[in-house]
Amino acid sequence: MSLIGSLTVGRDKSITHRAIILSSLSKGTTRIRHPLLGADCLSTLTIFKQLGVKANVGADEIVIESPGVSGFNDGPQCFDAGNSGTTARLLMGVFSALAASYEVIGDESLSKRPMKRVTVPLSLMGANITLTDDKYLPARIKGQPLIGMSYTLPVASAQVKSAILFASLFAEGKTTVHEPVQTRDHTEKMFEAFKIDYNKVNETIEIQGPQSPKTPGEVWVPCDISSAAFFIVAALIVKGSRILIKEVGLNETRCGIIEVVQRMGGQITIENERYFGGEKVGDLIVTYSQDLKGITIENELIPRLIDEIPIIALLAAFAKGQTIVKDAEELKVKETNRIDVTVSELQKIGIQIEATADGMIIQGNQEQEIKTAHVSSHGDHRIAMMLSIASLCAAHPLAIEGLEAMNISYPQFLNDLNSLKQN
Ligand code: S3P
Repeated sequence: MSLIGSLTVGRDKSITHRAIILSSLSKGTTRIRHPLLGADCLSTLTIFKQLGVKANVGADEIVIESPGVSGFNDGPQCFDAGNSGTTARLLMGVFSALAASYEVIGDESLSKRPMKRVTVPLSLMGANITLTDDKYLPARIKGQPLIGMSYTLPVASAQVKSAILFASLFAEGKTTVHEPVQTRDHTEKMFEAFKIDYNKVNETIEIQGPQSPKTPGEVWVPCDISSAAFFIVAALIVKGSRILIKEVGLNETRCGIIEVVQRMGGQITIENERYFGGEKVGDLIVTYSQDLKGITIENELIPRLIDEIPIIALLAAFAKGQTIVKDAEELKVKETNRIDVTVSELQKIGIQIEATADGMIIQGNQEQEIKTAHVSSHGDHRIAMMLSIASLCAAHPLAIEGLEAMNISYPQFLNDLNSLKQN
């Protein structure tokens, strides 16, 4: 079996969240074209519906009609962020400034993820947020007036940066955010589309509040490079494959996987580069590559491929020599501890991989064999998809527990994968 043909993969999760948030904060109608309708983005949408925003969800668009922030329901509310760290963290920046008291809850996984990284800077802006055990959801927020402040991010996190940027829209005075390591900049790019003024010099963003976003009428969402990553790796490791992945978001802050594939000697080319609403997109052609070699992945590259590390670990198993992933402690606080889970599940299928304090080491082999075994996603969407790709290389399909986790970011994943299979 080979993978042959062309596809558009699932739409960008990060950009869809931001499109829903900014459309909801802007008075009037915004048409979000090609949104991701995965569970995480629907959590964000449901919360704004609770606040009084009208949303019409069609097959390939969401039409948002917002009364603007001043028309939001101002009674107390309990918001459920589900599995979505982006929903919980970005929206804490908004709820902190609204006119009522809120509770934010999440599922079992999200309730174990660190929230203080967001509440510390928001408190400096005057936010009143109480976390459970001073660390976790449920959070109790009493909305109140915020003031601008200056903050250097202690962790490379776009969610923390974005929570502060959303809060700054409501804050009196100037907010400055400095990020020592560049993280994804979709919030900043979408601020431009919604006519929010800010300055970015090197890695410092300055924004004068308060400001109201103004709808551009329509927002377009590219395909998610984090979803494309599964197909990129599949085509590289499944013999005889050649695929075209169309309209993939190629934002510089997200493209680390392309650099990694090129450095490993994988055949990938980018065609037809263009811009949609400030975001670069292009078409990727990926061909089976038998001469992959191991590399070291570290430093500033990590935030540019943080969500792709589980699937990169699988790729590395098919490369000659050692691949080392360093500086990636953040993996421990994703939907699962992605160092432990990636290592344990790949070991079960015969891959030589070990965990380190800040990443993992994979001993690759160009003739890698995948052992048939019973594996589990541990409820993590990216692990479920990574194991589905590993299964393509096994003599008999893997029994994967918890496959449905992929609905979080890519409900159409298995259909898209099946559409490429050829004997
Ligand atoms: C995201 C940022 C990243 C990423 C997550 C989505 C975002 O998280 O892992 O899937 O949309 O801002 P961190 O900000 O915690 O690194």
